[in-house]
Amino acid sequence: MEFKTIIEPFKIKMVEPIRWTTQGEREQLLREAGYNLFLVPAEDILIDLLSDSGTGAMSTEQWAAMMRGDESYAGSVSFDHLRRTVQEIFGYQHVIPAHQGRAAERILFTVMCKKGDVVPNNTHFDTTRANVEFVGAEAVDLPIPEGKEPATLHPFKGNMDVAALEQLIERVGAQRIPLVMMTVTNNSGGGQPVSLENIRAVRAVCDRYHLPLYFDACRFAENSYFIKQREPGYALKTPKEIAQETFRLGDGCTMSAKKDGLANIGGFLCTNDDRLAQQEKNLLILTEGYPTYGGLAGRDLEAIAVGLEEVLDEDYLRYRIVSTAYLGKHIADFGVPIVQPPGGHAIYLDARAFCPHIPPREFPGVALAGELYLAGGIRSCEIGTLMFGEHATMDLVRLAIPRRVYTQSHVDYVIEVIRRVWEQRERIGGLRLVYSAPFLRHFTARFEQLER
Ligand code: F0G
Repeated sequence: MEFKTIIEPFKIKMVEPIRWTTQGEREQLLREAGYNLFLVPAEDILIDLLSDSGTGAMSTEQWAAMMRGDESYAGSVSFDHLRRTVQEIFGYQHVIPAHQGRAAERILFTVMCKKGDVVPNNTHFDTTRANVEFVGAEAVDLPIPEGKEPATLHPFKGNMDVAALEQLIERVGAQRIPLVMMTVTNNSGGGQPVSLENIRAVRAVCDRYHLPLYFDACRFAENSYFIKQREPGYALKTPKEIAQETFRLGDGCTMSAKKDGLANIGGFLCTNDDRLAQQEKNLLILTEGYPTYGGLAGRDLEAIAVGLEEVLDEDYLRYRIVSTAYLGKHIADFGVPIVQPPGGHAIYLDARAFCPHIPPREFPGVALAGELYLAGGIRSCEIGTLMFGEHATMDLVRLAIPRRVYTQSHVDYVIEVIRRVWEQRERIGGLRLVYSAPFLRHFTARFEQLER
């Protein structure tokens, strides 16, 4: 690059107004929502960093492809388009569409797991853990030690602890482990990448014990770009070549196209195993739909097919990774504790270090997320004690960046708001949980402020 300024590699053709609220309105809205930002109406949010999932802006090419969507019940041309694209990048034989990532997870774990089984993963995301547990299996997280320390620098902090994987297999027995999973990038662990070296080492362990390896591929393009930047030997490879090399090491994957599919809805499940694919398609027909649409409209299949190509564009990925790091760098510069180094799709505030006066049992992450909303109308997401209960090793507040949605001045505003909250952090108080569902409780939980 000749110039140092990295610009948004697109221009804006359609705009959606966003709306300011007053501090008083936000106080009332937050109280009414039981201090849970999932329960605040989106129109009362100024900058929405709750999730990067399904919240991206589609391109002109994606909208054009949507018009070409073939809505045939069976044998849709749009499905062929998607299948060809997925086979080209992911390389797996069977492509099974689903309405989003968790639908693919449910089908995968229903077919492959039974009660008493154990599923290792570098770190399960919330829906992945819940779907493993729902079939009576145990979800075990095996991140490398650095992955559990927010301030520790490591180029591939999303890696799996290979020795811990071997110990787990020896302890419980390979026959109780139906598959090993690798989440790229590692969302719950800070959006951190996984290296090809680590994937190869995990593959070698899987081979020794005859275990299949599956990817949770949601952010595969961002992971590929980090490999290009950080792993010796990959600087001259394209993100697509790196993705292809990654997936060749696995036997299949689940994918939420709401992330690196650049689509607003959709997902898929892939496998090379004919017998499993048949069982998966049978289950798909029962709840998702016929195997050439899987609960999606033909136009959605088109949007995903085009999105999967666009997401591997190097200009896009450079802008994506650099603009996320920009937010992280600026808030870290004035002392805000974040998961270092910045992840691909999000910046994670370390709420335990931000609010050391609030113990984990009083939900420092939920409290901090509430303050960011009160101060500046910013919506973020707790990833910690509320989301993972006793499995939580950190209390993080995730600022997830929707793809191609916000510009640098939006991010500058977010930086200013975080600075204000940081300067007044002693004023943030803990919370008491007053309602909690039996699983995935973070979506509907309600809180009260503790007396101070
Ligand atoms: N796996 C990972 C790593 C994810 O981040 C998600 C979703 C899923 C699976 C499930 O996919 O939402 O399409 O059913 N993560 C979103 C997020 C919700 O905000 O991080 P889904």
